[in-house]
Amino acid sequence: MSTLALNNVRPYGEDIKHVLIDGDGLISAIADTPFDEDVAETVIDGGGNVLLPGLVDMHVHLREPGREDTETIATGSNAAAKGGFTAVFTMANTSPVIDQPFLAEAVWDKGQAHGVCDVYPVGSITQKLAGETLTEIGLMAGVGVKMFSDDGRCVNDPQLMRRAIEYAKTYDVVLAQHAEDHRMTEGACAHEGPNAARLGLRGWPRVAEESIVARDLIMTRDYGGRYHVCHASTEGTVALLRWAKEQGIEVSAEVTPHHLLLTDAKLESYDGVFRVNPPLREDKDTVALRDALLDGTIDVVATDHAPHGSEDKCVEFDQAKPGMLGMETSLAAVAQIFVESGLADWRFVAKVMSERPAEIMRLADQGRPIAVGEPANLTLVDPHNPWTANGKEMESKASNTPYEGMEFNARVTATFLRGTQTYELKN
Ligand code: NCD
Ligand code: ZN
Ligand code: ZN
Ligand code: ZN
Repeated sequence: MSTLALNNVRPYGEDIKHVLIDGDGLISAIADTPFDEDVAETVIDGGGNVLLPGLVDMHVHLREPGREDTETIATGSNAAAKGGFTAVFTMANTSPVIDQPFLAEAVWDKGQAHGVCDVYPVGSITQKLAGETLTEIGLMAGVGVKMFSDDGRCVNDPQLMRRAIEYAKTYDVVLAQHAEDHRMTEGACAHEGPNAARLGLRGWPRVAEESIVARDLIMTRDYGGRYHVCHASTEGTVALLRWAKEQGIEVSAEVTPHHLLLTDAKLESYDGVFRVNPPLREDKDTVALRDALLDGTIDVVATDHAPHGSEDKCVEFDQAKPGMLGMETSLAAVAQIFVESGLADWRFVAKVMSERPAEIMRLADQGRPIAVGEPANLTLVDPHNPWTANGKEMESKASNTPYEGMEFNARVTATFLRGTQTYELKN
C-alpha cells in the first residue's frame, strides 16, 4: 500500500488534527496542518469527523461453516467494517462446531483472505458443544485461539467448568461463559416478569443467569484464570461483578447494545426479531448495566451479532430463534446512550469498544493509542449524520435488526485496517 493522509479529523472527538499513514500501515505523523499530495499519494478529507481506534468486538456469530445462507466470514467482515470494527471474535457454535485446531485455523485464514477485518476464531470448551467432554484447549491455544466459549450453551456442569478453568489458566486463554442455567430456562423465550406473564410467554428468570455468574466468580476466586461474562443482562449480575472486582477477583464482562437500549416492552408486538438470549429485560436492568459500563464494573460493549434468516425469525414468537444483528448499529447505539446524552465522551467509547476489548484479548495491534508509530487501525465517525436503521440495506446477509426504522445520529463514515480502507460511506 501507499502513503495515505487523513486530514481534518478529531482524534477522540478532540482538536482537529491531520494524520499521515505510511506504506507499512503505521501512523507516521500527526500534525496541526494538513498534508498534501506532495507527501501522501492519497489524501482523504475527514470533514472534522471523530477519529477512534478501530473497534473490537469480542462476541459475534458469523455462521461459517454451516449456515452460510445467513452470514459468511466475508459478509460478516463487511458488516463489521461498516460498523467500524477492525477485529472481531466469532463464536464456536457453527456447524461443525469449532472444536479442533484445523477448524479454527480455517476461520482465521478465511478472514485474512477476505482482508476486511481480523476474524479471530473462538474455540469451544466442550466437544460439539455437548457439555460432556472438554476440547483440546491446549492444541487450539497452540494455533493461536485466544478465547474459548460454548456460547449459545452454558457450561452448566460445575465439575466440567472447574476443569475448563484450570486448563484455560494453564494455557493463559480467556474462558467466556454464556451464563444460563438450562434447567431453569426450559421452554423459555422471554424475560420472566409482568410483561411475559401478560403476553403468555414462558419466562427465563434473572436467577438463571445470576446463579451461574455467582458460581463462576467464586470458582475464579479459588482457581484463577481469565474468566469473562458474555452478554450480562441483569441488575443482579452487575452486583455480583461489582462484588468480585471489589474482592480483587480478575474477571471481565461485556454488555450488548440491545441490553443497554431495549426492554421486554418490545415484546408487545410478538415480533420474533426481539427474541434473544439472554432475553431483553426491564428498565432497572438497563439502568444498572449503563451505570456498570460507566464505572468499569462491566468492561466492554460486545454486539453478540447473531444473524438469522426470516424463516427462523418471522414465525410465532416462541418458535423464533434467539439472536439479533448488532455490528452495523452498535456504534450509533452507544453514541446515542452515552455521548448524545452527555453521560460520557468519545474517549469512553474508544475505551469500551476498542481499548478494553483489545486489552482483555491481548491483541498487540488493536485498541492502540492514536499516535505516531502505532498501527493505523482506525474508525471515522460523523456524530451528526442522521440515518434510519434498515435491515435490508445492511451488509449482513441477514436483516434481523431490532432497530428497524429507528433513527440514529452517529454514523461510521470510514474504517481502516492497517492503513487500508475497508469501508467508506457513500451518500
Ligand atoms: C446466539 C446465536 O444465535 O448463536 N443467540 C442469541 O440469542 N444470543 C447464541 C448466544 O449468544 O447465546
Ligand atoms: Zn450467548
Ligand atoms: Zn452469542
Ligand atoms: Zn442485508
